[in-house]
Amino acid sequence: MNDLSGATKVDTAASGKPLLAIRNLNVHYGPVHAVRRVSIEVPEQSIVALLGANGAGKTSVLTACMGFLPSTAEGLTFAGRSIAGLRTEEIVRSGMTLTPEGRRVFPGLTVAENLAMGGGATAALRARAKVNRERVFDLFPRLRERLNQKAGSLSGGEQQMLAIGRSLMSEPKLLLLDEPSLGLAPNIVDQIFDLIVLLNKTGTTILLVEQNAEVSLDISHTAFVLRGGEVAASGSSAELRGRGNLDGLYFGI
Ligand SMILES: Nc1ncnc2c1ncn2[C@@H]1O[C@H](COP(=O)(O)OP(=O)(O)O)[C@@H](O)[C@H]1O
Ligand SMILES: [Mg+2]
Repeated sequence: MNDLSGATKVDTAASGKPLLAIRNLNVHYGPVHAVRRVSIEVPEQSIVALLGANGAGKTSVLTACMGFLPSTAEGLTFAGRSIAGLRTEEIVRSGMTLTPEGRRVFPGLTVAENLAMGGGATAALRARAKVNRERVFDLFPRLRERLNQKAGSLSGGEQQMLAIGRSLMSEPKLLLLDEPSLGLAPNIVDQIFDLIVLLNKTGTTILLVEQNAEVSLDISHTAFVLRGGEVAASGSSAELRGRGNLDGLYFGI
């Protein structure tokens, strides 16, 4: 990791009031109870890691928060306002955006067109699209060089940068990142994690889903470990890292 990661944690973060508060969230897929009474708080200005093995329910938590799938909760509030039952577009407009697992860029569209898709939700966003695009290019200079290239022809790392860049076009206060390092070469993974830290330093709150537990605990302030759809452990990232034996937390062994 380069020098950005050295400074990692944002001083103000731990004391921030919750930007996202999830209270007793449940998700069912038919008979499968995939998320069980999960409560998570994401303080303003923080990076919160959501960890756990494959199938633990991480993606389901994120997609339920975004209104992509039916869920129930005692409370689901963003920026002090209930978002339960809102449509995804309304949630995005209120300032929360998901960069999905597997990147999901539009392969047949160019880099520029993909970015435009992320910044089209409101007239105000469209008016600021040029400025926002410049901000994305400042973070990811490679995207500027590939502006008119089809997204499908980019490397995996570049596609991940584009997917995050597309999310940033909607000016999120809170960015939900689902496994941004998955399938990327180690040096690219470092770049992505550095970028997450940089984004956080420039004011974006982050809920980070990862399999890469060690690095995630290094860059996050607090963390939650899901196991079988339930929160198996939570606390400050430093404390969880200090406990070691993450496999035990993941698998209950
Ligand atoms: N569309 C779906 N239909 C049925 N079961 C699903 C669906 N999506 C996820 N699941 C199940 O829900 C559980 C949690 O999945 P997921 O949220 O994707 O976990 P993670 O992101 O931690 O790997 C798993 O048991 C998975 O098989
Ligand atoms: Mg997942």
